[in-house]
Amino acid sequence: MLQMTRRQFSWSALAAASSARAIASDEPVVIELEAARSWVPLDGRLVELVAYNGQVPGPTITLRPGQEVVIRLRNLLSEPTNLHFHGLHISPSPGADDVFLQIPPGELHEYRFTLPVDHPAGTFWCHPHVHGHTAEQVSGGLAGAILVRSEAEETLDLLRVPEQVILLQDFDLTNEGRLAQPGPMEMMTGREGSLVTAAGKTAAVLPITSGGFLRLRFINASSSRFYNLKLDEHPFMLIGVDGGLLPSPLEMETILLTPGERVDVIVCGNRNPGSYRLWNLPYSRTAGMGMGGPMFRSSGPFELAQINYEFGDPAFWQLPERLATIDPLAGNGKVRRFLLAQSMAGMGMPGRAQGGMAFTINGRTFDMDRVDTQVQLGEVEDWEFVNNTSMDHPMHVHTNSFQIVQSDGSATPAWKDTVLVKAGRRVRVRTRFDDFTGLAVYHCHILDHEDMGMMGTLRIA
Ligand code: C2O
Ligand code: CU
Ligand code: CU
Repeated sequence: MLQMTRRQFSWSALAAASSARAIASDEPVVIELEAARSWVPLDGRLVELVAYNGQVPGPTITLRPGQEVVIRLRNLLSEPTNLHFHGLHISPSPGADDVFLQIPPGELHEYRFTLPVDHPAGTFWCHPHVHGHTAEQVSGGLAGAILVRSEAEETLDLLRVPEQVILLQDFDLTNEGRLAQPGPMEMMTGREGSLVTAAGKTAAVLPITSGGFLRLRFINASSSRFYNLKLDEHPFMLIGVDGGLLPSPLEMETILLTPGERVDVIVCGNRNPGSYRLWNLPYSRTAGMGMGGPMFRSSGPFELAQINYEFGDPAFWQLPERLATIDPLAGNGKVRRFLLAQSMAGMGMPGRAQGGMAFTINGRTFDMDRVDTQVQLGEVEDWEFVNNTSMDHPMHVHTNSFQIVQSDGSATPAWKDTVLVKAGRRVRVRTRFDDFTGLAVYHCHILDHEDMGMMGTLRIA
């Protein structure tokens, strides 16, 4: 007889538990993942992607603050892989959120970590993070949502609102339905696939109850593509960003979501019953026509998904005016600068530069054996990203979220872990290195740029 203990349950059991919207347990959640090339149904045909447990996107993991998590990842790829838990505030040390670890082909690694008891509720995700292979593996399909649900959300009755995770991915496929190899120019700008999926579909249909609400949790899991979201006739009520809920909802007509970023929005079903389209509007990731303009594809608006009204009894609920308490971090005058640049490789420029192009931070490409930034546990610092290139770079920092600093020096009360630094511009963020020591990284989340060197190491001691 098949015996299943509480410590080991299958994905279907986890899916059942998460659809019941609760995992009440002091036992560790145990998750088994297999990363492998797999033929996956997509758009009415089978395509060969890289998948966790044969699914693209991978399974959604639902956690609670304080929870202990065990993830066993078996690598069935022909190259090394690993896992990064994007946005989770957990230890970067070996065994936990360690991006320096490489799981060789055929081997199994057991990740084990515990979420802090005060971990914020929010939308996070996991993906591979082996330097030099990240773009290839993530754009091949390896990505899964991680939802943290907390008592704060229960108090707001948010768990009663029907919700849908929309993990956004794009794939570049050959006629045979296999992953295409990008050329050097595509890697330089950051590869974009022409087949775009939302929640694993090219034309997802999402139901909303007339008079009710729908919560959409968007995750940009594309390695380079930006999404400029707009829903016909419905503004988004933005309730959360990367690191969790906002102090209060913000009404937005469009939302620009760069790779790595997440938004949590409420759609109000208060229009004429019908079906409404969710668009991706054009956005240019480059300034002007620098760097050989025509290479940068800019496509017109296209449809990502559709929202369909349904009749039914909407659960009684109202969008709360107050969502979370976030104290803006106070600055202390300490500012570090990170100069983002690109140059031809060679000439004292080691690293995995490809196509003759290297992407640098403070003049250097990534080297895992070098400590670039050393900070002290508990300290507050301002980091200023200065973008001297003609391309946008969404910058991401591991382990601790940050707040964006406004021009008057005050911090915006919202937790982010990825921020767009537009071409030719600068952005300042403020962070406190809380709870965990160890070696982490920061990098551009256009994953080809990360693979080509735009990443640095951060030692928290
Ligand atoms: Cu989502 Cu270091 O990345
Ligand atoms: Cu990350
Ligand atoms: Cu970049």
